Amino acid sequence: MKFNTKTIHGGQHEVDPAYGSVMPPIYQTSTYSQTTPGGHKGFEYSRSGNPTRAALERSLASIENGNFGIAFGSGLAAIDAVMKLLKPGDEVISTNDLYGGSYRLFTRIFEGFGIKFHFIGMQNAENIENYINDKTKLIWVETPTNPMMNIIDIKTAASLAKKHAVLLAVDNTFATPYLQQPLDLGADIVMHSATKYLGGHSDVVLGALVVKDEKLATRLYFIQNASGAVCGPQDSFLVLRGIKTLHLRVQRHCENGKAIANYLKKHPKIEKVYWPGFEDHPNHHIAKVQMKDFGGMLSFVTKGNDYNEAISIVENLKIFTLAESLGGVESLAGHPASMTHASIPKEEREKTGVVDSLIRLSVGIEDIDDLIADLEQAIG
Ligand SMILES: Cc1ncc(COP(=O)(O)O)c(C=O)c1O
Repeated sequence: MKFNTKTIHGGQHEVDPAYGSVMPPIYQTSTYSQTTPGGHKGFEYSRSGNPTRAALERSLASIENGNFGIAFGSGLAAIDAVMKLLKPGDEVISTNDLYGGSYRLFTRIFEGFGIKFHFIGMQNAENIENYINDKTKLIWVETPTNPMMNIIDIKTAASLAKKHAVLLAVDNTFATPYLQQPLDLGADIVMHSATKYLGGHSDVVLGALVVKDEKLATRLYFIQNASGAVCGPQDSFLVLRGIKTLHLRVQRHCENGKAIANYLKKHPKIEKVYWPGFEDHPNHHIAKVQMKDFGGMLSFVTKGNDYNEAISIVENLKIFTLAESLGGVESLAGHPASMTHASIPKEEREKTGVVDSLIRLSVGIEDIDDLIADLEQAIG
């Protein structure tokens, strides 16, 4: 199957045995009857497994070209499960420009359990090797990065991970498998905040991992059940439904994103636009090879870097909603310094470019003329 068929049919071969419903039923049950102890139809308790969640997990595996999908109650719960593969004394090399919640989980929870993190710039992926030692167990890559839209070369990171027998995990939330398939580029684990593009309608919080290797999958399914941060059947259904239009939505997100990036680049009040589709973006050449298109996420900085001016722009927007999150059909604007990245100390965030006037846009799939008119009136 090609990708645009997989989003609809991937892993969905099992016809509902009761009534032949085309969409899997929402199995809103915590438990399953047994004819004799152990005599069940593959499901015994919904933390361990649920048919609606299983349908989603098969779909996730299919669209990421993996063999196993593992769904969680949130993206952070999925990352938490990956970190539980590690032991005290282990070391992780992570992208320095990453989602603030991931940084908080690493530094405020897992550092306390004796895991050491190196947060490094990975725009030159060869740099990763300088931090690998015999305690390194995991490389954590987010690309494009949030919110600076840096691009990290997954293939180079994967070859270093293989060379040193270290796991490579890629947060593929921004790109989605429509644009980039990290397992095919050599990653061991793909992670998603399915809350974003996979769900696509800002109506669900859910996380996912996809892997190829069965042994790794077994360990992660064990953690999923043992730690218990699973998603419910209703939320699994919503993400499964969202995935069916992923290819259409992301295509339009990319078209609108490109038009807005070009509009902002020419705007006299804008200092800089961060979007990997520009030829002068430092890693444009990697994005061009690694991604099918450049996505609907972009960030920009106003001339003078004034905090209050940035706040007034995001307050004045009318079609763009000022909100956390991204990847839904509706356009959202965010102010990372005071919102998503507020948990990262100012000196740390400024080192990576998250300055006071940075505004991040999740460009939705509305009419492009309306979106540009909205920016025009808000920026002035
Ligand atoms: C890139 C990225 N990774 C992970 C997460 C965390 O996912 P969730 O909010 O579903 O827990 C987010 C949320 O914004 C994100 O943007």
